[in-house]
Amino acid sequence: MLTETKTKARGLADLPPVVNDSLLALIALHEADPREHKIDVGVGVYRDGQGNTPILKVMKEAEQRLLDTQKTKSYLGSAGDKRFAELLRPIVLGPHAKDDRIRGLQTPGGCGALRLGFELIACVNSEARVFLGTPSWPNHAPIIHAVRLEAVEYPYYERGQATLRFEDMIAALDTGRPGDVALLHGCCHNPTGADLSEDQWRETARVVSERGLIPLVDIAYQGFARGLEKDAFGVRLMLDTCEEVIVAQSCDKNFSCYRDRVGSLFVKTGSKEATDTAMGHVFQRAREMWSMPPDHGAACAHIILDDPELKARWLVELNAMRDRINSVRQRIAAADPRLAFIGRQFGMFSMLPLSKEQVLKLRDDEAIYMADSGRFNVVGMGDHQIDRFIAAVVEALNG
Ligand code: LMR
Repeated sequence: MLTETKTKARGLADLPPVVNDSLLALIALHEADPREHKIDVGVGVYRDGQGNTPILKVMKEAEQRLLDTQKTKSYLGSAGDKRFAELLRPIVLGPHAKDDRIRGLQTPGGCGALRLGFELIACVNSEARVFLGTPSWPNHAPIIHAVRLEAVEYPYYERGQATLRFEDMIAALDTGRPGDVALLHGCCHNPTGADLSEDQWRETARVVSERGLIPLVDIAYQGFARGLEKDAFGVRLMLDTCEEVIVAQSCDKNFSCYRDRVGSLFVKTGSKEATDTAMGHVFQRAREMWSMPPDHGAACAHIILDDPELKARWLVELNAMRDRINSVRQRIAAADPRLAFIGRQFGMFSMLPLSKEQVLKLRDDEAIYMADSGRFNVVGMGDHQIDRFIAAVVEALNG
């Protein structure tokens, strides 16, 4: 009897379904809810007291200048807008800005920078493992897996206590092998808001450097915690301490230009020559993935950062966003001792000690949309919604 040896050709119809990205799914759910009093503290976009995400005034002005003066839309190449990346150097790298062992390029947002950074790691060492503190931004693990690297998860945060599990973090990093990667949140930890203290950064840098790990610092919210300089403490300390460092940076939040996808990647190695070679791989990977980054947002950030007057006005608008974040935090923290931890944390996010069932009940009963994990965006709501949000959360905590 003949046995069937031919395998059936697989078509697109054979694809298994995927589970949608939880945060993007939440945007759609909120949009579809007809209730007028709905509150969206899900996805991480800054909203002002009126509950809007306005385009920064300085960005509008830069866009007008771009419209008036741009002479061509010809290609720029895989590095994108080189002047944009140069202008970011003092902001992100501080005293390391002049170090010729560090080179950067424009990327499509912080997400593009992360992907490119991990692509670079995978190019040099497909056995590298990535130490990932949990919980983390839900897209971190998928990006690591997309480049076929192994993610080694360790507990970063104790939700019930609202404290860092710093000893667990250090113990995990201490098991790293040379060439493994420590993925670190530069500031405004997403999703917990619980940042490392300066002493904890020092201890982390010591272990990372002693074990020969490569720190990959994801800094997507610079300026949203304590100011541009202080928020870059961890990035700069890693550059002080480690020979090889990768920084994935985003302007999407601090320039409030989310959909324009504005970011950058910086790579440091032990020598200018080695960095030049690494950048060759970076450009090659960028070429394969997106060829060239989108221009518009980075061109506007370039105009702002290259003009002292516009830059000063950007800082005023950035500081206003940070002040609102911190004042809403204080308002929520003062409402109930069980929410006091929110006042001690930084950036847009905190995690409420609620179960998934409680989160879904808030969604059904109160039209309050937050991530299933209990992560909420403290500036997702306008001023007029804060009291209702607090009352609903307190009721949920009361059980
Ligand atoms: C978030 O965490 O809500 C933002 O970073 C948006 C995103 O892309 O997930």
